Amino acid sequence: MFDPRTYQPASNLLTDRVVLITGASDGIGKAVAQAAAAHGATVLLHGRNVRKLEAVYDSIVAAKHARPSIVPLDFEKAGPEEYETLAAALEQEFGRLDALLHNAGMLGERAPIEHHDVPKWMRTMHVNVTAPFILTRYCLPLLKRSADPSIIFTSSGVVARPRAYWGAYLASKWASDGLMHMLADELENKPTIRVNSIDPGKVRTKMRLQAYPAEDPQTLPEPGAIVGPYLYLLGPDSRGVSGETFSCQ
Ligand SMILES: NC(=O)c1ccc[n+]([C@@H]2O[C@H](COP(=O)([O-])OP(=O)(O)OC[C@H]3O[C@@H](n4cnc5c(N)ncnc54)[C@H](OP(=O)(O)O)[C@@H]3O)[C@@H](O)[C@H]2O)c1
Repeated sequence: MFDPRTYQPASNLLTDRVVLITGASDGIGKAVAQAAAAHGATVLLHGRNVRKLEAVYDSIVAAKHARPSIVPLDFEKAGPEEYETLAAALEQEFGRLDALLHNAGMLGERAPIEHHDVPKWMRTMHVNVTAPFILTRYCLPLLKRSADPSIIFTSSGVVARPRAYWGAYLASKWASDGLMHMLADELENKPTIRVNSIDPGKVRTKMRLQAYPAEDPQTLPEPGAIVGPYLYLLGPDSRGVSGETFSCQ
């Protein structure tokens, strides 16, 4: 059976595809954005820190890949109308969206439910689940205009192995996977649109360091080492695959 972890993408895999990646300023999102650009995509770099996004933009331009765009939006602060405005701007500039990767996320607080800070819970659920819902809601018409659209949510090991004290992060990743399955089912009659999740596994990023401060980061793969399954789901080789969760490790 095909294993996306060993996927070898063609160098022109994503040529002429317009790909929106949330949380592209750092970690896994940044690595996937750079890899997607290296495989021909026009990448729309979403994040909340324009300075960090500009550094990713510059790295893609310096590598002589298709010129990306910067899409700033702070998921904690934005209201629904700002997502609608964002989608309208994308429609005006690109006319369609070929892929949407929901990668941005926050760890939130890890504490027993009895003591979990309530506003922190709400913020984490909002950034990790509600923001992907709203963005999907307003981008679906653009995705439906693509010949081969793909939506990707980001899962986590806490879905397969739920455990104590992971707070809103765990609940949000279960909800995100539920949203993926629901959407895949809703779009069943539109077989060109695929909706899947990726669990990146343990990756050397800011979030992982926050979750496991005592861990030696050198023992973990860098984000650039786990992008294969992302490229597989972004490109045409995953046509017809929907409602599944893939592991990068
Ligand atoms: N690393 C792992 O081992 C691991 C394991 C399982 C799942 N994951 C998942 O993989 C995804 C990427 O995580 P990562 O490890 O690459 O983490 P990361 O390095 O901390 O990157 C998170 C990204 O999300 C952005 N973000 C956070 N809050 C935001 C907000 N309010 N509005 C807009 N953007 C926001 C960050 O922007 P800033 O640069 O401005 O902070 C950054 O670009 C997450 O969904 C995470 O849950 C990671």
